Amino acid sequence: MTYNLAVIPGDGIGPEVMKEAVKVLDFVAKKFDLDIRYTYLKAGGCAYDEFGDPLPDETLNTAIKSDAVLLGAVGGYAWDELPVDKRPEKALLGLRKSLGLFANLRPAVLFPQLADACPLKDEIIGDGLDILVVRELTGGIYFGKRGTDENGAFDTLYYSVPEIERITHVAMKAAMKRNKKVMSVDKANILDSSRLWRKTVKRVALEYPEIQLDHMYVDNASMQLIRKPGQFDVIVTGNMFGDILSDEASMLTGSIGMLPSASLGEGHAGMYEPVHGSAPDIARKNLANPLATILSVSMMLRYSFGLDEAAKCVEDAVSKTLDEGYRTADIAGNSHHIIGTREMGDAVSKNI
Ligand code: IPM
Ligand code: MG
Repeated sequence: MTYNLAVIPGDGIGPEVMKEAVKVLDFVAKKFDLDIRYTYLKAGGCAYDEFGDPLPDETLNTAIKSDAVLLGAVGGYAWDELPVDKRPEKALLGLRKSLGLFANLRPAVLFPQLADACPLKDEIIGDGLDILVVRELTGGIYFGKRGTDENGAFDTLYYSVPEIERITHVAMKAAMKRNKKVMSVDKANILDSSRLWRKTVKRVALEYPEIQLDHMYVDNASMQLIRKPGQFDVIVTGNMFGDILSDEASMLTGSIGMLPSASLGEGHAGMYEPVHGSAPDIARKNLANPLATILSVSMMLRYSFGLDEAAKCVEDAVSKTLDEGYRTADIAGNSHHIIGTREMGDAVSKNI
């Protein structure tokens, strides 16, 4: 089987972590006899520098035609002063929107080997942590009307009923394969858009009688994630709340350097990226943790290519590498076995 893969390393630590993810994928391809055709594309700050556009047409058009997109990270201090339509983040939002990737899956799983890197006490973690954040990705305040005048600025949070319905279905279907619990997070005590969100989620949930559905305000949810993370299975929420809560959930896994993500639309094509950003402060120092990107490869194999066995092989290789004691600095905990980005990629590849 041939797979056309668009690879967008991006900025900051993006190229470093991507190199390791591709290294691992090459080993997987060999083992499972997959023909993966890589097309490297530019997006983000590096594309702005070269073409004056963070999301050049060629990048977008090739990404649209690909079976999947693997993205490192975009952004950095160098581009912070640019107007909003030239900023590197525009590339990410443009890709998500143009590819119709409305469902963002962010699994926060604590590998037992990393329990000492998790900032929570053992008794709070209990017997592990496995939360799936389902974040709506192409609506809400990220894409509403915005403006600035001499006195102030505004952004609009709008959700249509179909947008809420389709993300709810994704969350419900995911929960059916897990512990059948969905927590919908909103701010329905204040926002009209959240009241519509809650009403719509409740209605869609009627089609999934086996699912236990609960609702929580976002401020409370951010507290409960720290107080008792075990109460969550699937969290479904809007674009901005999901952005914030997934960063919070990531830390429970020891480091944001561990969290992969999948952005999916109606079909099989998807975009896969680590949840962390471009971390310009540690770029080019061989310090970044490539595991979030490597685990994103695993999600790609599962969701876009339908290769469950290969996906599992990547997860097992990561787990084995952690068993062997290898740690990048961000997940070091009490370990003295600290290695760099490249060495981590090598160690995981060996375990494929
Ligand atoms: C993320 C990031 C992006 C977002 C930024 C870089 C635009 O924080 O993927 O979580 O806010 O969606
Ligand atoms: Mg974010």
